[in-house]
Amino acid sequence: MHVVAEPCSGCKYTDCVVVCPVECFYEGEQMLYIHPEECIDCEACVPECPVEAIFHEDNLPDEWKNYIEINATESEKCEVITEKQDPLVDE
Ligand code: F3S
Repeated sequence: MHVVAEPCSGCKYTDCVVVCPVECFYEGEQMLYIHPEECIDCEACVPECPVEAIFHEDNLPDEWKNYIEINATESEKCEVITEKQDPLVDE
């Protein structure tokens, strides 16, 4: 499974959601989350993120390991997002 980590927080470029073939991104206020049971590990989103926020769980830097749990719990609470939006930061 893939995980959205800290660089997305306060960014939300949303380039990732457009390429996801299974629509497994969910939108929180500050960042997006991947639903762990929906992600098929296609990796399409990984190169799309301008701030390199998306990792395979096995490649997550140690300081962001907690995002595995955060993605799992927060994706359950949020609405699915499938269309690009304006980011929270200036492009
Ligand atoms: Fe976040 Fe990168 Fe997607 S900043 S919204 S993971 S393109």
